Amino acid sequence: MSLKLAILVSGRGSNMTAILQAIAEQRLDAEVSLVFSNNSDAPALDTARGYATPVASVPHRGLTREAHEEKILELLRPLGVDFVVLAGYMRILSSHFLREFKHPDGYYRVINIHPSLLPAFPGAHGYEEAFNYGVRVSGITIHLVDERVDHGPILAQMAFGRLPDDTLESFKSRGLKLEHKLFPEVLQNISRNGVHFFERINPGNEQNSTGLATAGKGGGT
Ligand code: GRF
Repeated sequence: MSLKLAILVSGRGSNMTAILQAIAEQRLDAEVSLVFSNNSDAPALDTARGYATPVASVPHRGLTREAHEEKILELLRPLGVDFVVLAGYMRILSSHFLREFKHPDGYYRVINIHPSLLPAFPGAHGYEEAFNYGVRVSGITIHLVDERVDHGPILAQMAFGRLPDDTLESFKSRGLKLEHKLFPEVLQNISRNGVHFFERINPGNEQNSTGLATAGKGGGT
């Protein structure tokens, strides 16, 4: 089925662009009903306008987290999106927001991309922290969002090696290329097959430790 998406951004928007471009090239069967930013100066908003995609922004300054989220929800509720996609959205979403997107199978219909192999290096500086730590292999993660930061069922990961002469910039740019490739592919997979993820290993419940959990059959919504 064709996915109806809202994309939340805070800055540059290169992942948002990769998604819009994949839709334009019919590699992704989806439509973006709204690009929202908490930053009215986000370059992503102009890019989205260039793809004739509706945009909105509400700065978070001066609002409580819940009041700001409520403003976003007021914009999103009438749209009836299948998934909210976080593409460099630098605000933590509380359960007030997430519960509006609860799927009957228990997960939230909110997807994030993170620039490390989670659970390593969560937080706002995934590339920097992985690079400065000196990892030999890093990667990117696309996951369903839960109440914890950069946490929730993993949908896909891709690894890349750190080269001996890598600078932080070359390391980041190799990762970003993978982000742009993987994000539209994962969304297309959801549009074709619904949401699939491996359940996290749950100590004391061994039958979960290797089982493939599938959820949201028939489109993931
Ligand atoms: C990406 O590295 C993404 O993984 C992280 O924030 C960055 C956003 O970049 N969550 P862009 O705005 O998509 O260019």
